[in-house]
Amino acid sequence: MSAAATGDLEPSAASLRFSLLAARRDDLPAILRLEEQGFGPDERWSERSWAGELLGEGRTVLLAREAHPAGVVALSTVGELADLHRVVVAPAYRRQGLGLRLVRAGLLAVRHAGARAVMLEVEWTNEAAIALYGRLGFEQLHVRRDYYGPGRHALIMKLYDLEDWPGRFARAVSETASDFAAEHADDLSIADLTTEEAP
Ligand SMILES: CC(C)(COP(=O)(O)OP(=O)(O)OC[C@H]1O[C@@H](n2cnc3c(N)ncnc32)[C@H](O)[C@@H]1OP(=O)(O)O)[C@@H](O)C(=O)NCCC(=O)NCCS
Repeated sequence: MSAAATGDLEPSAASLRFSLLAARRDDLPAILRLEEQGFGPDERWSERSWAGELLGEGRTVLLAREAHPAGVVALSTVGELADLHRVVVAPAYRRQGLGLRLVRAGLLAVRHAGARAVMLEVEWTNEAAIALYGRLGFEQLHVRRDYYGPGRHALIMKLYDLEDWPGRFARAVSETASDFAAEHADDLSIADLTTEEAP
């Protein structure tokens, strides 16, 4: 187990200054600003797509804030399988561990909702995201050719064993790190992570 992988267990000190809470419907304008900062015009999700994330059944949307909204992650859960749909960190806040912390919090939330494995697709040229997902235990499953348009292939990645996650990482660090969620109870309140029901 590499030092980089074992280091994934602990949120970085820099990332802990952000609060992570379930996003609400009135966070939509802030989320759209993050979306604009994260993606080019051809890749951006519409307001309608993000509203669907916020209001849909089985969705988990977490927003990170410092003084301003700094990042967002969106997942859905159907039965024992979750999908990681989106993660965006505003450029000014990147490389401080916030992306890792957001995805980790999303994984804990969908596990709490019953997911046992997580799938995602990511453009095969997106080195930052692929590296981040790899550090959390996602493995490359296959390539879906031209998924995002001609020549823009998608890499399909899967985290196989969310039930035990981050078990093998945790055991490599410390025999006592058996309950990651409990250890981080102050950092992440599962009760806070349930997306509000649509009115
Ligand atoms: C991908 C993204 C969310 C990463 O957010 P972040 O807060 O910068 O990520 P972190 O600081 O937690 O980085 C964690 C690790 O991921 C990898 N990583 C992150 N950015 C990277 C980059 N630009 N190049 C290579 N590796 C990178 C590194 O391993 C990094 O660890 P390190 O800083 O110790 O080397 C951010 O770059 C982003 O919002 N990109 C645009 C939106 C996007 O492409 N989202 C993913 C598809 S939905």
